[in-house]
Amino acid sequence: MSEPFNRPIQFLFRGQPVSVPAGNPTRTVLQWLREDARACGTKEGCAEGDCGACTVVVAELADAVLGTGSRAVVREGVALRPVNACIRFLPTLDGKALLTVEDLAGPSPDAALHPAQQALVDCHGSQCGFCTPGFAMSLAVLLERTLGGTPAPSRTQLADELSGNLCRCTGYRPILDAGERMATLPGPGLPLAGLADQLRQLQAAPALSWPGQFHAPRSWPNWPRCAPPSPKPACWPAPPTWACG
Ligand code: FES
Ligand code: FES
Repeated sequence: MSEPFNRPIQFLFRGQPVSVPAGNPTRTVLQWLREDARACGTKEGCAEGDCGACTVVVAELADAVLGTGSRAVVREGVALRPVNACIRFLPTLDGKALLTVEDLAGPSPDAALHPAQQALVDCHGSQCGFCTPGFAMSLAVLLERTLGGTPAPSRTQLADELSGNLCRCTGYRPILDAGERMATLPGPGLPLAGLADQLRQLQAAPALSWPGQFHAPRSWPNWPRCAPPSPKPACWPAPPTWACG
C-alpha cells in the first residue's frame, strides 16, 4: 500500500481516535496536551526529562512492540510504559494510545479515585501536588503489573521504579507508603477494556512517514529506508521511531 504523503498522526486519547495534522515533528506530547488538548493535569517541571512531573502512559499493542524496555508492563495484550511527555515527540504516538492522569478516575466527578490516587490521599503523599500526577501515573503502571499476577513490589523495588519521579516537598516516605497501600485497595486499574482491538484498527493504517522529517517503521526490513545521513552517528535510536529534521 502506498503511503499517503504527510498523513496525520493518529492515536487514541480518552478512548477515542484522535487525528493531528502533520506539522513540526519535534512538537512534544506535553505541548500538545497542555496547549492543544487543554489537558493540564499533566505538569511541566524541568521540561528536560529529569523530574517526572510530566509522566504519562503510552500503550501499544504488545505484539507490535519491537523493544519494550525494562519499564513496560503487558496487560490485556497491551504494553504500558510510563514516559516523560516533555521529551516525547508527538508523532511517536502514532498507532498508540495516550493515557494521562485525567484517565485514572474516569470522567464523572463522582467517580471513585484510582487506587494509586486514593493511596496518595490516604498516605498524605501530596503537599503542593505538582509532582503528584506524575507519581500517580508511574504508580498506576506498577499496579497493572500487580493486577496481572506479579507480587506487589517491595519497598526497595518501589523506590527503584519511582526513581524517575522527583518530589520537592512531601518527601518520599509517604509516597512509598502509598505505593505499598494501593495494592490493598479495591477499584479497577487503567481503562484497558477493548484497547487492544482499538489499537489493532489503528495499526491498519500505513506507517507514519513524513519524507525528510520523520519516519516510524514498524518492522526491521523497513528500517534502512530512514537510515540517518552519513557519517553514521555512533549510536542509532532503535526502531520503531526516529525523528529527524
Ligand atoms: S517536565 Fe520534568 S521530566 Fe518532563
Ligand atoms: S508534593 Fe510538592 S513537589 Fe511533590
